[in-house]
Order: sequence, then structure tokens, then C-alpha cells
Amino acid sequence: MQRPHTTPRNQDTPVAAPDEFQPLKLGKLEVWPPVVLAPMAGVTNPPFRSICRENGAPLCVSEMITARAWLRANRLTHLLAQPEPGESPRSVQIYSADPDEVREFVKRLVAGDAPEIDGIETCKQPVDHVDLNFGCPVPKVTRAGGGSAIPVKARLLARIVRAAVEAAGDVPVTIKVRKGISDELLTWQDSGRVAQEEGAAAITLHGRTAGELYSGKADWEVIGELVQLVDIPVLGNGDVWEAFDALRLMRQTGCAGVVVGRACLGRPWLFRELADVFDGKEPGPPPTVTEIRALMDRHARALMGFFGPDMGMRQMRKWGAWYTKGLSGSAATRSALVRVESLEEMHAALALLDQDERLPLRALEANRAKGGRRQKVVLPEGYLEDRDDDTPPKGPISDAEMAAWEKALGGG
Ligand SMILES: Cc1cc2nc3c(=O)[nH]c(=O)nc-3n(C[C@H](O)[C@H](O)[C@H](O)COP(=O)(O)O)c2cc1C
Repeated sequence: MQRPHTTPRNQDTPVAAPDEFQPLKLGKLEVWPPVVLAPMAGVTNPPFRSICRENGAPLCVSEMITARAWLRANRLTHLLAQPEPGESPRSVQIYSADPDEVREFVKRLVAGDAPEIDGIETCKQPVDHVDLNFGCPVPKVTRAGGGSAIPVKARLLARIVRAAVEAAGDVPVTIKVRKGISDELLTWQDSGRVAQEEGAAAITLHGRTAGELYSGKADWEVIGELVQLVDIPVLGNGDVWEAFDALRLMRQTGCAGVVVGRACLGRPWLFRELADVFDGKEPGPPPTVTEIRALMDRHARALMGFFGPDMGMRQMRKWGAWYTKGLSGSAATRSALVRVESLEEMHAALALLDQDERLPLRALEANRAKGGRRQKVVLPEGYLEDRDDDTPPKGPISDAEMAAWEKALGGG
């Protein structure tokens, strides 16, 4: 069968057979299809999560929320940690390198015990799922001993996971890791063992090292090896660009579910396609420009409602570039979209496009965020000298540093 809207690598990938895949079980949560919207800083905020949910995403993780900033009642952090009204399950990803901080944060999240903050209504809805970030490769984070630096110290990792699991009660806690720092310093096996021993409900493995950032191809073999190593569910992550990739990743590795990141930037209907292929159906054709335009209108209004008109429209600029990536003759539209200041300007720019064109195949893998560069990962001084040391990295982090982090992370 010829599939006009599918890349050559998936022309022969069959849709799921009846009962071939099971719902993803995270403690008491059942997730079908077994697909999770990846946490993405500056991206998976409440407006985008609601759009993904409307398109069928069953579990949408917040962007990473810095525990310290939340506990200190930082206003922006609280806004970003909020669910959309009625969002269920509510899922929050936590960033911290300190077990005590994590314990306190998780305890309050599961109790719906947010502090009062002037000017915003803080969220009292208990969370249904907590994810812990042990994969962030951003230099500001790893230099402070956070993100992907944490699994280098397996005993510290264990303390943090244990604190979260104890505080969470029956709310499932998952962890998200990369393969390691570099090919010479792999940590995925330790992470898998710790996750299992400390009671995590699942582990997500992004098949790249922190040094690789987003370059090259994600290593799916290592995901299969982790499946063999542990008895808890493994979620595969990295380079699921179209719905059929998710089926191939699960078939190839035996993983229990997939986590989808960059492919849904400006393509939230991917979740509908994922639901189709897991339900044994061929996905429909991609949307036309007219349909994409309606979606962008909905998205821009949601961002303006959430962040306020000015900041919302500024946020929409990067989305405009993502939604129109790969459309033919879109150069003028795209350069206008990165400067738009109002809904009217956005629609005027989109009116230049052929309204009947469907998103072409070449758009499926067009890089929507993060280039192909690699990096040398910066760790705290002397960090590798005592890997058994389980004391959290030194704090406290100043407010200025925290603001700088949020800026770096907010930019993705
Ligand atoms: C803009 C952007 C922001 C990200 N922010 C986070 C984050 O806050 N927490 C996290 O665990 N991973 C973060 N990631 C990594 C993704 O969750 C995911 O692991 C990675 O993009 C690989 O999956 P993909 O190939 O499906 O994109 C981010 C990725 C991108 C592109």
C-alpha cells in the first residue's frame, strides 16, 4: 500500500494489530494510547498542553518546574506549574538536585497545597503524576550539579527519587534521563537500577548523551537494552517524528510507551495520528493551511489569555515559525510571523499562503527546535572525584542565578 503522507521509512510499517499494545500503566494511571507529551521548557505550558489534549494526547507533562523557585513562591514558576482548568491527569516535571526540597515540593503538589501569591490564583488541584528531570544538558544546570549531572552520582540520585516516591504516596513518580554525560560516562544503567529500587513507576530514556544535545540520531538500541535490564516500564524517547515511528520504536525495543517532543511543535495533530495508528487505523491526511490557520488562531488566543496580550503574542512568534515550517512559498509569511504583534498581523501573514496546501512530507522532520551541535558538558569542579558522595550540590542559588536559569530554560 502506498501512503502518500508517510516518509519512505514507514511505508511498510503496519498499524497496530488488535491487542498488540497495552495501555501504559504508571501506578494507578492508565494511559492510552501509550504516548506522553514530553516536558519542554518554554513549550509545554498550559495553553499548548490543552491544544495537545484536544488532539488526543492522553498525558501532557508540564515544562520543568524549579522546586526552589516554586517553594519560594516565584510568580512565573507558579503560573507555569498550573494546569488548565479541568486538566486531568495533571502532570508536573520537577527540577531539583536536593532531596529535602523535592520531598517538600512533592508533598505539597500531591496535597494541592500551593502558597498564596499576590496577583495570581495559585493552583490547589492535586497532581496525578510527577516526573523528575535528570536529563537537562543546559550548562547552567549541569554546572550546578543538576539535570543530567545527577545520575553521575547514583547515591544522590537514589536519595532524590526516594524522597519523591515517599512524599508522593500513591501518585506515580517517573524519572527522565539521557544515556549519560558522554559515551565515556554513561549513566543509564545506574539510573534504571535506581529507578527500580526506589519505587519509580517508570523511567524515560532519551537515547542521546548530554554531550550530544539534540544532534545525530537517537539511539533506540540502548532503549531496548534498558527494557531488558529493568522490570519497571521504560518509555522510549528521541526522534519519533511521525506516528508510525512510535510503533517502530515500541516494536523494536519492547518499551511500554513513547515520549514525543519536537515533532509536535506546530504539529499537535500528531497526537490524533498516534491515537489512530495505536487503534489500528490509518491516520488521515495532514491539515491544510486553512486548518493550520484555525489552529494557530486558537493557539494565539490561548497564549494571550494565559500570558496577557503582549507576552502571549510574542510567545506566538516562535510557534508561527513552527506551524509554517516546510510549507511552500512560506518565506515572506515566516519572516512576518516572527515579528507579529497582533492577531490581525498574524492572519495577514498567513493569508499570503496557498490556503488549500496540505503540510508536505518534508515538514515532518524539519528541525523545529535545537540545532545539530554537540557540547562538552560542564560539571561542577571536582564532581567526578567522589561519585559515591550523596550530598546535594551546594546552594543556595541566588535569585539572580535562578532568574538566569529561567531565562535560559524558557528559551528552550
Ligand atoms: C525546546 C525544548 C525544551 C525542552 N525542555 C525540557 C524540559 O524542561 N525537561 C526535560 O526533561 N526535557 C526537556 N527537553 C527534552 C525533551 O523532553 C525530549 O527529551 C527531547 O526533545 C527528545 O525527544 P524528541 O526527539 O521527541 O524531541 C526539551 C526539548 C526541547 C526541544
